[in-house]
Amino acid sequence: MDKMLIPTTDADWVIAEQHCDQLRESSRESRFSVSNGFLGVRGTRGINRFSRGQVPPHTWVAGLFDLHDADPPVPGLVPAPDWLSITVALRGEKLAYHRTRTRQRCRVLDVRRGIMFTDATLTHRASFSLRARSLHLVSLDDRCIGLQLAQFTIEHGEGELTLQVGFANLDTDLITRRMEPGVATWSTYTTPSQLGLAAAVVLEVDGREQKAAQDGPFEWSWRWNARSGQTIRLQRYVALVRTDDGADPGEIAHARLGTAQNRGWRSLITAHEVAWAARWQASDIIVNGDPAAQRALRFAIYHLNGAANPGDPTVSIAARALTGSDYRGHVFWDTEIFLLPFYTLTWPDAACALLHYRFRTLDAARRKAAASGWKGAMYAWESADTGDEVTPDQVVGPDRTLVDVLCGHQEQHITADVAYAVWQYWLATADEAFMAEAGCEIILETARFWASRALPEPDGRRHIRGVIGPDEYHETIDDNAFTNQMARWNILCGIEIARLISDRLPLAARLLPDSAELAAWAEAASTIATGFDPATGLFEQFAGYFAREHIDLADYAGRSVPMDVVLGRDRTAASQVVKQADVVALLALQPDLCTPAQAATNFAYYAPRCAHGSSLSRAMHALVAARLGQPAAALSYFLHSAAIDLEESRAAIDGGIHIAALGGVWFSAVHGFAGLTLRPDRLCLSPSLPPSWHSLHLTIQWHGRSLAIAIDSATRMLSVRLLSGETMTLDICGQAHRLAPGRPVQAGIA
Ligand code: BGC
Repeated sequence: MDKMLIPTTDADWVIAEQHCDQLRESSRESRFSVSNGFLGVRGTRGINRFSRGQVPPHTWVAGLFDLHDADPPVPGLVPAPDWLSITVALRGEKLAYHRTRTRQRCRVLDVRRGIMFTDATLTHRASFSLRARSLHLVSLDDRCIGLQLAQFTIEHGEGELTLQVGFANLDTDLITRRMEPGVATWSTYTTPSQLGLAAAVVLEVDGREQKAAQDGPFEWSWRWNARSGQTIRLQRYVALVRTDDGADPGEIAHARLGTAQNRGWRSLITAHEVAWAARWQASDIIVNGDPAAQRALRFAIYHLNGAANPGDPTVSIAARALTGSDYRGHVFWDTEIFLLPFYTLTWPDAACALLHYRFRTLDAARRKAAASGWKGAMYAWESADTGDEVTPDQVVGPDRTLVDVLCGHQEQHITADVAYAVWQYWLATADEAFMAEAGCEIILETARFWASRALPEPDGRRHIRGVIGPDEYHETIDDNAFTNQMARWNILCGIEIARLISDRLPLAARLLPDSAELAAWAEAASTIATGFDPATGLFEQFAGYFAREHIDLADYAGRSVPMDVVLGRDRTAASQVVKQADVVALLALQPDLCTPAQAATNFAYYAPRCAHGSSLSRAMHALVAARLGQPAAALSYFLHSAAIDLEESRAAIDGGIHIAALGGVWFSAVHGFAGLTLRPDRLCLSPSLPPSWHSLHLTIQWHGRSLAIAIDSATRMLSVRLLSGETMTLDICGQAHRLAPGRPVQAGIA
């Protein structure tokens, strides 16, 4: 068999299911998704797909939002047709998966190449048996192209075989504008977006192309007398195009399909693999000594690389990326806080496109601030195509009751989170063009918002009342330490930006705040309530938190449902139980806010109070634990984070993978175990590897340079090599080193 058509045999690069299991099908479809930042295809086994009680097979198209019959009534991503369906039948009866003879690893995701493979035996009672192998991908080289190849070998038996190739969900919840053989277009009900689809299918039996019967615009079938030993090969090419400017997406898809077909599947696969190889070269992490951690990192990096598209600044990454329907394609703080670290340090072009999405939605953020009487820009907690607030007012809670959602009004820290990601991008890239065009404006407008939002009160301090912090178990609280400290940081960053514009960015001079405004910002930043108690060294998570009921979470260790379900919403809200990292997240994002000893005190206080009711929580704990020199605890958080999407024993992930948790896996390795931090003038490394990790190797981009970093536990040495770019200075464990081309730095670590 052609090597191109089988998965890599290197176990470090594959995720394989051990056996078929109808009950786990939907979760596996999420886990095995392939995507390229524009198209996301769930890991459906297209051949004679099991259909009992499944999530429908879908392709997700970035940016294809609509608000039609939506429940809840907020815009959501509209699923595009699925293009993997193949039905094989003998004498009109659909072949069945053979339980024992179906290959053990019947579905394999080759993360190195971004291709999903299937391999199974299908039978008709005992009389007929066929081996069916397939692969599919969405091209990382040409993001609108999908390819499916299938090969069937008749192992024994004969008779009239029918093979049907079709598309599911063609009557997608859109307005059909054109439906002709192999070409279709749809428009949404409420947005300018249109979708175009073009497809072509070729079938060969023993090397001879067969003419298809066209049973519908997107249905092809063949019927012939099959006999033992026959080999049947199928190629399906699809092109999916989204337009937002009135251009005909069907015509564009048709033309793109023609180009893809002319290139042929071999050339498409080669170009796709080259594109994936480039991404792995820029972003792979190698862990020696801990195969579970290695697997977790590869899986995370695979999905992170598949989630972004540097070519489209109009979209961002949803909470489930392009792998499922949960959260309706909405964008949260997940992107800026959990995902941007990866893109900023390994794929700055993708990071830049994601930040441009926030720039393009700045007007919506201005509208949101103005609607509440505040200045500047306040980003939506949940954002879709326009950037207007799309958080539903109610959702079905974990205990299946309807609950009011206040996040759209109160979870305002996202505004500072966006500014934070812009600043981190600036520190890592020194991208002046981006800052002058977009970055400075985002930071200034968000600083302006906070200066108007934090109001002075008779106690001489400014307070931010009526918010929700990252810990969503507590609503309508005052002075959430995370929110206030991020707001304070955002205002100070605004002042820093004004300095930067004056010194280095004349192109952004139009944005310069006047001196009165800058003075007001300085006063605001210095008087915001911080929640810090110098006597204990603790940050109070919000005003009154310490007085709430203490609940010992150890008593609930074996629970299988979230703590707010165990206790009920009201008691949870009245308690100290924290949904997810909140003060701990603050320690992660602002490591200089307090001394290491105070950070350790806060971590020791808050970690046992955290119920990890969000998939985002443990990664933040991993990062902070690693920085505090607790690598064994950090590793446990890290592995739990990785298990959310990777391990079958965990909760179902039918609605898509948790891309923020995967981003957290990456940042806990890089910012936690490798101890990487970004300073205004330099990059700093201060590693703390888990005892089982013999070594850690990673590559990052910094100010246009590419750096290879290796940390070796046995020799206690860290080495950094410049793969490209000019001489620079970096800090290793607090010591400055000069790094020049061809002259790696070697330094001992604590
Ligand atoms: C978490 C949020 C997160 C959202 C989307 C919620 O459960 O509490 O922090 O942004 O899920 O992932």
